[in-house]
Amino acid sequence: MITVLPYNIHHVAIAVEDLDASLADFADKYGIAPISIETVEEQGVRESMIAVGGSHIQLLQPLGPDTPVGKFLSRNGEGLHHIAFAVTDIEAALAHLQQEGARLIDSTPRIGGGGHRIAFVHPADLAGTLIELVEV
Ligand code: CO
Repeated sequence: MITVLPYNIHHVAIAVEDLDASLADFADKYGIAPISIETVEEQGVRESMIAVGGSHIQLLQPLGPDTPVGKFLSRNGEGLHHIAFAVTDIEAALAHLQQEGARLIDSTPRIGGGGHRIAFVHPADLAGTLIELVEV
């Protein structure tokens, strides 16, 4: 019945104060290195992807205190920020979620890291967890 929903976890995102320090932790403690580091001005973050098996950990460092991730850090400190599901058709996934009464932060996709089309769904819809859809 549900054909547009995720088939994989694309990434798990963690908000961090200092991206370089966190990357050093991942390298020293777990032996894993980033596959990308980029600044996404539109989202107010400097972010990095670390490949883990078939999925990724995304580290997010805010560009300033007034950005969404900056506000998250001052409220919650470092930690889990969102879970991203991979979807093959983001418009269909959004239409389905809308039909199910989900509160969409993005009703139309925007461009995120890596040039992927993405959209966020409000944390109130899923146990306080911000969900990102990533079209792959
Ligand atoms: Co993300």
